[in-house]
Amino acid sequence: MKLIIAITGATGAMFGVRLLQLLQDTDIETHLVLSSWAAATIQEETPYTAKEVTQLADYSYSNKDLGAKISSGSFQVDGMIVAPCTMKTLASIRIGLGDNLITRAADVILKERKKLVLVARETPLNDIHLENMLTLSRMGTVILPPMPAFYNHPDSLDDIFNHIAFRTLDQFNIHLPEAEEKRWNGLLKSKGITQEQIL
Ligand SMILES: Cc1cc2nc3c(=O)[nH]c(=O)nc-3n(C[C@H](O)[C@H](O)[C@H](O)COP(=O)(O)O)c2cc1C
Repeated sequence: MKLIIAITGATGAMFGVRLLQLLQDTDIETHLVLSSWAAATIQEETPYTAKEVTQLADYSYSNKDLGAKISSGSFQVDGMIVAPCTMKTLASIRIGLGDNLITRAADVILKERKKLVLVARETPLNDIHLENMLTLSRMGTVILPPMPAFYNHPDSLDDIFNHIAFRTLDQFNIHLPEAEEKRWNGLLKSKGITQEQIL
């Protein structure tokens, strides 16, 4: 399997970094593009440099390189994840702008009817954001805001990064062994209490 991973300049750079870390020890080939604002948020929010993050991927490309192989539908990939995805990149994808490698690769994914998952991050959302998301969703794009869950009792930010990464990879039927232990298994089953006892 081959996946394009793009990281854009929304807060939550670790959501993209964690995907790359999890996929590093798998046979899934990763093709990475960072926007220039992603490089800034990686530097600001994570213990890594942008260069270290590019080294987690099998292949990486400049966002300016519109001639890279992932800019063409003839290069076969299984899908693309943008994590985190800014409202700017989401808007550009919605209108088919293709002015950088991230938006061009996403445009190719859509025209080739492959899977596109946008880990869209902004809050609160205005009408423009919501309309762009709805249009993309109707085209088959998965809008996956990085919302933490609490039923799995996260102990740390690390647990939250993992949870979002696992849910994102679920979209491609990639189920890593470490994801399985934290799945929802029915209300209060872990405490041995039945629903009838609390309602
Ligand atoms: C620290 C930081 C956090 C940001 N967080 C967000 C965010 O959560 N969502 C968003 O849409 N834009 C956010 N932005 C603004 C984007 O970086 C900006 O719109 C930029 O043009 C996006 O370009 P890109 O999509 O090519 O990365 C943030 C900017 C900075 C510096």
